[in-house]
Amino acid sequence: MAGRVVILGAPGAGKGTQARRVARKHGWPHISTGDIFRSHVDHKTAIGQKIESYMHSGQLVPDDLACQIVVERLAAPDCTSGYILDGFPRSVPQAESLDQMLSDRHESLDAVILLTVDDDELVERLTSRWTCPHCGKIYNVKFNPPKRENQCDKPECEGVRLVQREDDREDTVRSRLRVYHETTEPLIQHYGRRSLLQRVAGGASPEAIEQEIEGMLTAQGAS
Ligand code: AP5
Ligand code: MG
Repeated sequence: MAGRVVILGAPGAGKGTQARRVARKHGWPHISTGDIFRSHVDHKTAIGQKIESYMHSGQLVPDDLACQIVVERLAAPDCTSGYILDGFPRSVPQAESLDQMLSDRHESLDAVILLTVDDDELVERLTSRWTCPHCGKIYNVKFNPPKRENQCDKPECEGVRLVQREDDREDTVRSRLRVYHETTEPLIQHYGRRSLLQRVAGGASPEAIEQEIEGMLTAQGAS
């Protein structure tokens, strides 16, 4: 059965950590609009140049651009048997646009998972997050450190130094949290009205959260 899943939550709630696990388990693509945009910025594409200042200041890139990226990505053949969307939608216009994209394809979402974590913990998590630029594995020097200081654990990433994201400075993290509360939180109502929303306490261990999400997906028949 296909599984079309959205993972919602504030910056640092663990969307990327959990989406990677779900995607690997089910063989679905993990579609992170943040990762797609960061790749455009790193490669200095025309889109990257247009969005760099939004991303570095913690603002959302314009809705039309985010929707265009997702329409193109969902049309790829690897999305036919399911996907997990991480970081999209994050405004009501984006959610309405996703509703339209799905209805044009006679499809619907199977689950929307909301990870909830307190703001103070989010700031602490993001200011101590490090990522492998080679494989994308996410670490945290306080909660989930790599085995060797500043190096990815995976053998295929031998010698690769972990990096910090440009938008993980404390002042930018606080701007991202403001944007989340103002613009993204209304999606809780948007999906809640349709009984699609499932809340998961994001303060538990990554393994416990993964199990809880898996139980929800199985119950929804999205596995
Ligand atoms: P995006 O990349 O989506 O960032 P975000 O939403 O701010 O979320 P993060 O990636 O920072 O956090 P996460 O929830 O993935 O947490 P993670 O698993 O890494 O977007 C970045 C920017 O791109 C936006 O600001 C915007 O400019 C633009 N953008 C993207 N999509 C857009 C859209 N649709 N429209 C417009 N603009 C868009 O975990 C965080 C840390 O916590 C890690 O260190 C991890 O190890 C640790 N951790 C995870 N789980 C746990 C746990 N259970 N316990 C303890 N620590 C944990
Ligand atoms: Mg992420």
